[in-house]
Amino acid sequence: MGCISVAIPGHEYDVHIEPGILARIDEVALRTGKYRGACVLADEAVYKLHGSKVENALRKTFSQVVVGLQPQGEANKTLDTVRNCYDVLLNARLDRDAVVFSFGGGVNGDTAGFVAATYLRGVAFIQCPTTLLAMVDSSVGGKTGVNVPQGKNLIGSFYQPKAVVIDPEVLRTLPRRELCCGLAECVKHAVIADDSLFSWIEAKLPQILALEMPVLVELLERNIAIKARIVEQDEKEQGIRAYLNLGHTFGHAIEATAGYGVIEHGEAVALGMIAAFELAVSLGICGCEAAERVRRLIERIGLPVKADLAANEALIAAMASDKKRKDSAVRFVLPERIGAVRIISGAERGSLNAAWDSLR
Ligand code: GLY
Repeated sequence: MGCISVAIPGHEYDVHIEPGILARIDEVALRTGKYRGACVLADEAVYKLHGSKVENALRKTFSQVVVGLQPQGEANKTLDTVRNCYDVLLNARLDRDAVVFSFGGGVNGDTAGFVAATYLRGVAFIQCPTTLLAMVDSSVGGKTGVNVPQGKNLIGSFYQPKAVVIDPEVLRTLPRRELCCGLAECVKHAVIADDSLFSWIEAKLPQILALEMPVLVELLERNIAIKARIVEQDEKEQGIRAYLNLGHTFGHAIEATAGYGVIEHGEAVALGMIAAFELAVSLGICGCEAAERVRRLIERIGLPVKADLAANEALIAAMASDKKRKDSAVRFVLPERIGAVRIISGAERGSLNAAWDSLR
């Protein structure tokens, strides 16, 4: 079925999208290299539901298969989890011919990818994302890493996988709230790069929420293609990859001030997009009809459009300490319309206050 190629110079790989593909994950792995041992670093809750498919497939091909389970949630995206994963690999004496599989959502993929990037200075890595958010965003493009008390994703590396394997059937057990969070990133992609995708999501939302498989596969293919084309042009986020941070400057400030885990990342991004549109409208960059259309779609998805936020002062301070800040000014990705964005440096206090107030 679907296969999207990611052509990053020196790191070409395929994203395979196919219902039931987990039962053949060994075949997909073997097409990317010769490996002697396999290690699955999995989200323990997801592993209980679907892990046997992965493990049975790998045992057909690999004489050594070890599994390390990680607790779920952003709070576990830490160096302690990374150390536990190293122990799994070291205790099994896996060498450089091993391949590491992630099996879970974005937290799992980012952590497992960082482990693969650093174990014995780097072993092969295959991403098996199991949330919509990880499928359309974090599993593609090679960002890996963990959070530290000083901030989110401050320790990590760019480390491209050998392949991404997506079985949309696993979305049937994904909680609705998580599905909606993934849809926030789909809306983000449409706003950045593809107004026809935006209209398509508006039209197909009932089928998407009903998990109709052909529609889900098309949703995955269209979104992953957008992400792939961006990271191919700018692997290390020197330019247009920053567009993918639409809604994130506001969103990270919401997450940081609420305390990680209180609000889901996709929910914070949805709120952040609404605030970014509000700021763009007040700066005269974007028309208010586009802003209203985006707010309506976010609301129809079931994502929050209002929130119990910290004071503006705390939110603006949190934005200023975001790592995507360059020099002294905070950089914002702002929409010009649905399908095109631009980056601006700095915004005056009154406009920022109005953007935050639009979420109350
Ligand atoms: N999630 C944004 C990026 O991969 O750059």
